[in-house]
Amino acid sequence: QTADSLYIINSNAQKFFSNALVNSDEGKQIALTYLYERGFSDATIQKFQLGYNPSASNILSTHLLQQQFNPDLLIKTGLIKKNGEEWVDNYRNRIIFPIHNNTGKIIGFGARIIGKNDKAPKYINTPENEIYVKSKVLYGIYFAKQAIDKADECLLVEGYTDVISLHQAGIENVVASGGTSLTVEQLRNIKKYTDNLTIIYDGDAAGVKAALRGLDMALEEGLNVKLVLIPNNEDPDSYVRALGTNAFKSFIAENKKDFIIFQLELLLKEAGNDVTKKNAVVNQIAETLSKVNKAEDFSKQQQYVKQSAALLNVDEAGLYNLINTYK
Ligand code: GTP
Ligand code: MN
Ligand code: MN
Ligand code: MN
Ligand code: MN
Repeated sequence: QTADSLYIINSNAQKFFSNALVNSDEGKQIALTYLYERGFSDATIQKFQLGYNPSASNILSTHLLQQQFNPDLLIKTGLIKKNGEEWVDNYRNRIIFPIHNNTGKIIGFGARIIGKNDKAPKYINTPENEIYVKSKVLYGIYFAKQAIDKADECLLVEGYTDVISLHQAGIENVVASGGTSLTVEQLRNIKKYTDNLTIIYDGDAAGVKAALRGLDMALEEGLNVKLVLIPNNEDPDSYVRALGTNAFKSFIAENKKDFIIFQLELLLKEAGNDVTKKNAVVNQIAETLSKVNKAEDFSKQQQYVKQSAALLNVDEAGLYNLINTYK
């Protein structure tokens, strides 16, 4: 009941935002211009239902309240709030990215500041409510699910604009985690469509760490995980623009690394010649490999053990024994 009402309010707000983006002078001059400068086409803007919340303090509030929606529900959506007696729009002067669930209903919004401003957060997102559960959100899943199924691969990026740019470039099997580490719910949603997950993150330390955090969980869910790091302070959005679709696809294909092997090489590099650290790496890899433990994945595990043993310079039987201590 509450959920249904929240969907209705969100859908209503989305239409308001889209209209404000393309039909108001302010929207055109400030927000649409910004989106065009970033290279987003009209078709892309329409497909992802992008919008604009005007800068006046309560223009969305007024619009929603006029329609007799329950004020408590309006507050729950995070779109507007009450400041004393005054209603105020929470996303004033921001670009609006509606977030859809698997069936295309709008569960919430990301709201981006226009341009740069060090005083305010770049993005604001919908607060947790009956339909917006942060740990479940996979931005773009509604637009990507068919392509994921067809390609039998899901690309996972960090941000809204990464998803949108890749779509515009013709790469549609892509979703975003929203800059947080992966959750089991997100992985299980992906698993409905494919077993093959390719994580494409920033090559900076934070990006690598964020990616590594999801690895053991992804293996436990039975996903085959590959990793590609985007170089030079770029992200998939900027990089696909810089390279063009074909070169970007080649880059991904050529730099896709099996996640277990990636982790092993990274840890080995960090350990250097330190024997104690190297032993710790052997143990950590054994623990990771113990997660690849479903019966159907037995041959997969055998391959990993072979590769890992070679890289670690230990014998396979010993590595198996160690793996079994983690089961
Ligand atoms: P653009 O700068 O518009 O290209 O966005 P981006 O996606 O490249 O942003 P960034 O790489 O900084 O962050 C990746 C994702 O993390 C974003 O798409 C958001 O989902 C999330 N994120 C980034 N900044 C914030 C923030 O200030 N608050 C919150 N809640 N989320 C953020
Ligand atoms: Mn399939
Ligand atoms: Mn980063
Ligand atoms: Mn970006
Ligand atoms: Mn980014």
